Amino acid sequence: MGFGYRPGRDIFRNVTLKARPGEFVALLGPSGCGKTTLLNLLSGFLAPHSGTVTIDGRAVRPEMSELGYVFQAPNLFPWLSVRENVRFGLRMAGQLDPDEQRRKALQYLDLVGLSDVADELPNRLSGGMQQRVALARALVLEPSLLLMDEPFAALDAITRSAMNAELLRLWSTLGQTILFITHDVEEAVFLADRVLVLGFPPHGLDSEVTIDLPRPRDLRRTRVLPGFAELCDTLLQRTPV
Ligand SMILES: Nc1ncnc2c1ncn2[C@@H]1O[C@H](COP(=O)(O)OP(=O)(O)O)[C@@H](O)[C@H]1O
Ligand SMILES: [Mg+2]
Repeated sequence: MGFGYRPGRDIFRNVTLKARPGEFVALLGPSGCGKTTLLNLLSGFLAPHSGTVTIDGRAVRPEMSELGYVFQAPNLFPWLSVRENVRFGLRMAGQLDPDEQRRKALQYLDLVGLSDVADELPNRLSGGMQQRVALARALVLEPSLLLMDEPFAALDAITRSAMNAELLRLWSTLGQTILFITHDVEEAVFLADRVLVLGFPPHGLDSEVTIDLPRPRDLRRTRVLPGFAELCDTLLQRTPV
C-alpha cells in the first residue's frame, strides 16, 4: 500500500499494524504527521493510490460491521434525539426490529451514563456528553475493532481525564480491540497496553513502547507512579518532531 498527497512522496508504504484481540493500542504522533490519514486508510474512507489495505487479510470497506469509529468531533445529527442518534447505525444495518433497536440504544446510553437525556436533542448536551453519545453510537454496533481519532482532544483537561477513565471502564467491560490516536503522550501512557510512535516521513511507524503499568488504572494513582513519568519521557524522546 502506498499513500501520499504529492506524487512520489509517499507518507505510508508497507505499513503493518498488529494488535492482539482486546488489546488497547495507542498511536502517538505530532500534529500533521499522518495519524488521521492512516486511520482513514484503515477504515476504507480513503483509498491508497497503490496497493490495498487489509485487516485480517480482508480488504477494508467503511461499512464493515466489525469496525467502529469515534472522531474528534461528535458529528451527531442535530435533528435526531440522543437515542435516535445511537439507534441510527442499527437502523442502517437493518439489525433488530424498531423496538429492539430503541431498547439497545438505551442500553448503550445507560452504559455511558446518559440514559436520562435519551430524548434530548444533541445541542442540549455539553461537549463531553456529546462525545459520550458518539461513543455509544459506535459501541451499539458491537464492533470488534474500535478506531478512535483524538476523540477527547477538543475537551477541557478535566473532562478529558474523566473521559479517559470512562473509556477504560467501558473497555474492561466490553473488551474490544482499540486503536486510539492521540498527540498527547500522557493520554497514550494512561490508556494503552502498547504505544506506537508515528513520525513525519521518513520516520513512519518505527518505534513502539509497551506500557506495563498495572490495571485497573486510576486517574490519580496511575499518574503519580514513577513508571508513568519514565514512560512519558521515553515516548517524548522517541517522537520525532
Ligand atoms: N486532503 C488532503 N490533501 C492534501 N494534504 C492533506 C490532506 N489531508 C491531510 N493532508 C496533509 O497530510 C499530512 C497528514 O495529515 P493528517 O493525517 O491529518 O495528520 P494528523 O492527523 O497526524 O494531524 C498533513 O501535512 C496534512 O496537511
Ligand atoms: Mg488528525
